[in-house]
Amino acid sequence: MVTLNPETFAGKTALITGGMGFIGSNLAIRLANLGAQVTILDSMIPDYGGNEFNLYPVKDRVRVNYCDVRDESAVSYLVRNQNFVFHLAGQVCHIMSLSNPFPDIEINITGTAVLMEALRKHNQDAIVVYTGTRGQYGPSVSLPVNEEAPTNPKGIYEISNLTAEKIIKVYNDVHGIRSTLLRLSNIYGPRSQMLHSRFGVCNWFVRVAMDNQKIQVFGDGSILRDFLFVDDCVDAILRTSISPDAYGEIFNVGNDVPVSFLELVKTIISVAGQGSWEYAEFSPERKAQEPGDFYSDISKISRVAGWRPKYDLEEGLAMTLEYYRQHREHYWQ
Ligand SMILES: NC(=O)c1ccc[n+]([C@@H]2O[C@H](COP(=O)([O-])OP(=O)(O)OC[C@H]3O[C@@H](n4cnc5c(N)ncnc54)[C@H](O)[C@@H]3O)[C@@H](O)[C@H]2O)c1
Repeated sequence: MVTLNPETFAGKTALITGGMGFIGSNLAIRLANLGAQVTILDSMIPDYGGNEFNLYPVKDRVRVNYCDVRDESAVSYLVRNQNFVFHLAGQVCHIMSLSNPFPDIEINITGTAVLMEALRKHNQDAIVVYTGTRGQYGPSVSLPVNEEAPTNPKGIYEISNLTAEKIIKVYNDVHGIRSTLLRLSNIYGPRSQMLHSRFGVCNWFVRVAMDNQKIQVFGDGSILRDFLFVDDCVDAILRTSISPDAYGEIFNVGNDVPVSFLELVKTIISVAGQGSWEYAEFSPERKAQEPGDFYSDISKISRVAGWRPKYDLEEGLAMTLEYYRQHREHYWQ
């Protein structure tokens, strides 16, 4: 089992695709603070999750390239001499993928193929980490869900993530480009977009509470999910990247403490000390994509990479609220 000590990433080179986004920027900050030389690739497509302010704490210590992950020549240049490639760029909205499948197919699938081909041609020694989604499983057949569960995704976004994961696995198995394949649960915390409710449900509820509005709880609020604080997610990404036994493997990255949406909302209101809630009907799109109860079995990543979440929901929410209270003007409009 690996230990993540302060020297592990010092002097190492790391490319983060989607590094201006929510998880990518938290990862960039952690890596820069550990002494890594960080390069960001991000296209900043409007309405997606990128925000320049996200990288403010390390703005003089990371190199930012505004380019698209589908751009073969840019990607071929950027992957050279990287020790690590963290692939987080993507179209992330499952609702949008139901009415327009093409961004998922083009960005999540073609973009991943462009990246892996660039690595095959120019840097087969890099270690790749891919962040897919728990949505790849679709409806749970038993709980908690482990990595052996069948994959019956309910949307194009989820299919595109599963396809990207399989593409990267082929490059691991056939071309020897080491990779770890993560399936993330619901991640929340500082630096997520706060402009709309189409992705990042927990963060959206935080905004509604901070605005002293009513949080809408769909159905009876009893559906179970596992919510993971972003620092814990970053920890999982880093630990699996340096665990030789993790290469070529799929891991759930979630929380083994499930909560219902109603409990989540009540906890947000209590930690925030503001906001209220009401029951609401599911919209037809949300109803069609709702896979029911889900929570992750995280015993595999725990065993192989020595990872488990450090923060409970109250602690994570308190840090999230503090961040947005301090930096609201960069996220509210
Ligand atoms: N946040 C979650 O709860 C969650 C859950 C499961 C999986 N994931 C996955 O983790 C990854 C990161 O998610 P996030 O929450 O940080 O999303 P995000 O939207 O905040 O970040 C994604 C970043 O990718 C960039 N991007 C999008 N298309 C691009 C392109 N064509 N070229 C270059 N950059 C592009 C965006 O500008 C954005 O900065 C995504 O692949 C997402 O599917 C996230």
